[in-house]
Amino acid sequence: MDPLDILISDAQRAFAAAAQPAALENEKARFLGKGGSLALLLKGLAQLEPEQRRSEGARINAAKARVEELLHARREQLAQSELDLRLAAEAVDVSLPGRGRGVAGIHPIMRTWMRIEEIFSSIGFDVANGPEIENDWYNFTALNNPENHPARSMQDTFYVDARDSEGKPLLLRTHTSPMQVRYARRTRPPLRVIAPGRTYRVDSDATHSPMFHQVEGLWIDEYVSFADLKGVYTDFLRRFFESEELQVRFRPSYFPFTEPSAEIDMMFTSGARKGRWLEISGAGQVHPSVVRSFGLDPERYIGFAFGSGLERLTMLRYGVSDLRLFFEGDLRFLEQFNR
Ligand code: FA5
Ligand code: MG
Repeated sequence: MDPLDILISDAQRAFAAAAQPAALENEKARFLGKGGSLALLLKGLAQLEPEQRRSEGARINAAKARVEELLHARREQLAQSELDLRLAAEAVDVSLPGRGRGVAGIHPIMRTWMRIEEIFSSIGFDVANGPEIENDWYNFTALNNPENHPARSMQDTFYVDARDSEGKPLLLRTHTSPMQVRYARRTRPPLRVIAPGRTYRVDSDATHSPMFHQVEGLWIDEYVSFADLKGVYTDFLRRFFESEELQVRFRPSYFPFTEPSAEIDMMFTSGARKGRWLEISGAGQVHPSVVRSFGLDPERYIGFAFGSGLERLTMLRYGVSDLRLFFEGDLRFLEQFNR
């Protein structure tokens, strides 16, 4: 075989074996460089006769051109495969769903909150807001729940490691009832108010969450009776659930801040939600010492209060069995309330 043909096929094999551009350039030096095999062959021409030199020179140059061609081809191949690799690594999968811009929705608890405000506003109740970090005077003492009284442990409390400007211990309010006192102390009777908001207790199971929502209701005037509580609350439930098919029961109970006290239970009497009694609220006639905390004379002013769980009302309205679903942020659950 012609030595030039051997050289060409050697170069072809060497270039093909070079997997990286740098390795290819090393191979290039071996064949086309100053001390490379083609340069040596060209140097050897000097010893030949002029006639032979011309024809041999032409053959060597043709071989050199061929090797250069092979080198360029391999260079392009390597550049292309490098590009392919990069494209594959940076590939965009056009079949993936887009991130999109979802439209925000209203949380089911917020829907309940808004509905309650609407219903009570329509019968002349004011809506009040207050702090979630409360001092123990508003949360307990002013509500006839003296320091060291065992009734304080009815609610397992998150205390804050700080005191307010008057040196009173701070806590995360365990109910919205402190709003009765805050509102009453800044408003003249008649007092008709609801105070929805977040509340906190050391509680956690399918019907109890460490953070939950309550709505406080308060109506104080000269002749507000327990019968008014029954009327107002029952009417509220019928409007909230858009149903006349429900029964309401006032079951005797105990709260330090009301006397008499009751738990309010309700039950649907027909339809898919027909079932058993469920507690939705605490309530009662405001205790005379709480009326005194309001800065009012209990001989003259009387009325009722209630404190209802918003999660409970929402669970009943939509048939949700575990209140933790409200706080897990799972869109598959939440989206069902925004169709
Ligand atoms: C109270 O909190 C009283 N302040 C209610 C009250 C107000 C009575 C005014 C009289 C006058 P109770 O601890 O029962 O009461 O809570 C009231 C409602 O809040 C319960 O019926 C329940 O629906 C809800 N609730 C209580 N704890 C939790 C919790 N951890 N998670 C979710 N809901 C709760
Ligand atoms: Mg209760």
